[in-house]
Amino acid sequence: MSKLKIAVLISGGGTNLQALIDACKQPDYPAEIALVISNRTDAYGLKRAEEAHIPTKIINHKDFSSREKFDAQMDKEISSYGVELICLAGFMRLLSDEFVTKWFGKMINIHPSLLPAFKGADANSDAVAYGVKISGCTVHFVSTEMDSGPIILQRTVPVLNDDDRDALAARVLEQEHLAYPEAVRLIAEEKVVIDGYKTIIED
Ligand code: GAR
Repeated sequence: MSKLKIAVLISGGGTNLQALIDACKQPDYPAEIALVISNRTDAYGLKRAEEAHIPTKIINHKDFSSREKFDAQMDKEISSYGVELICLAGFMRLLSDEFVTKWFGKMINIHPSLLPAFKGADANSDAVAYGVKISGCTVHFVSTEMDSGPIILQRTVPVLNDDDRDALAARVLEQEHLAYPEAVRLIAEEKVVIDGYKTIIED
């Protein structure tokens, strides 16, 4: 069976990218990473991709006069690699409605909270500040509204009394590294059906 070709989009350290790289090394894993794109030249995730001999592209948003033009360049690169699924992994740029609409159902994101709680750039700080007792991570299809779209899977962690942002982020990240490869596997095995605002996961 041919493997699902994925592109991973990053802006930073790329530990979720690493989890996907490691999963893809397993012979029976049904996906392979065709391309890693970073919008930042200094993203450590680029090194992780290079070490795994995965093609990388730096597309710096500062080189483009509009979000639409930046997204069009990404679309061109992604399409030229025959990518079937885009995985946002700590990619800290909002995407244009046009790009999101084109890739709807074929683009997923991982977010460090139990959505719809704590959308935005610093979910772990927000969760600690709010005082929730349980947090976690969410893998979801990307829709035009930020940190929204049909949820594929979630994993939970406890929030402890003395947690600060970093302590909670580290605990959530461990679960992200399990959740993201699992979500990609489910999609590659065609077990995820979008049903309106929800997904149905088939056995
Ligand atoms: C992860 O915690 C991811 O969930 C988060 O950025 C981190 C990236 O870490 N994404 C968001 O907050 C998106 N709204 P990584 O670069 O080590 O994978």
